[in-house]
Amino acid sequence: MKKGGLSEVQDAFWELVDKSEAAAEKAEANYSAEQHKVWDLVANNLHSLWFLFVHPALLKAGEKMGMFSGNIPTVKSLDKILSAASGFHVYVCDGVLDFAVLAYGYSMGYFPTTLFIRTMAQLDYIETPDMVHERFGHLVALFLKAYANAVKQFGKIALNYLDHEECVKALDKIHWWGVEFPLVWHEGQIKVVGPGILSSPGEITHAVKASRHLDTGEQIQRITVTNENAFEVLMDIVKGPKHNIHIFQSKYLVFENFEVFEHTLTKTVVLVMQEIKKEGVVVPYDDPQ
Ligand SMILES: [Fe+2]
Repeated sequence: MKKGGLSEVQDAFWELVDKSEAAAEKAEANYSAEQHKVWDLVANNLHSLWFLFVHPALLKAGEKMGMFSGNIPTVKSLDKILSAASGFHVYVCDGVLDFAVLAYGYSMGYFPTTLFIRTMAQLDYIETPDMVHERFGHLVALFLKAYANAVKQFGKIALNYLDHEECVKALDKIHWWGVEFPLVWHEGQIKVVGPGILSSPGEITHAVKASRHLDTGEQIQRITVTNENAFEVLMDIVKGPKHNIHIFQSKYLVFENFEVFEHTLTKTVVLVMQEIKKEGVVVPYDDPQ
């Protein structure tokens, strides 16, 4: 939690919201030909991969949101479509947000997007999340009510534990594997749902198909999550090594369905937070080598 507590977090969040419309309009009037081209190339590449590997509800959501229409959708249009579909709103941020500000936004039903886009040279990989990640990833996922409800509740729960250091570390890990990188079973197949995967042409096939990690040689783990094992799975995540943000993942949670996803990100997270506080669980949080 920031020094000034929740009120400082709220102030920081609402300041971003207040500035969003003007910032978006200014940037949108000035996208260069290269920026439009990058969006178009990424959109075409993702569209064909999504047909094969992404949950059909998200493919439909992306199409309804105009993600593949050839134009970079405006923040205003995305906000309008998303708020009608799931109640979520869009605001503008400048890079990676403080977790408390992000969580407060979730709790209010808001998701941030930057106004910058990767360059031609960064088509396949970019370290800092750009609008490709936020729009093809998070905003499309948030079109789905089950995903949006889970994220909003997760944010509300997180606000209750921001003063507890081990809980914050645990929330960050659960957010990584549960909110950013989830897969979901659909008609006997594993399908992509997580924003971190949706927006990455390389990771889409890796997440669903690869048996070993190309960089580390590790066996890829795909752990099916049910209501019965959700607590155990989240505790293993909390007590295990921290996620590596620099390479494709070698472990994915595959939720049995969207109901289990919602249940895990809400009710099970509360149980995990209570367990950490009650048992004094120490959460490993060193960055992987
Ligand atoms: Fe993200």
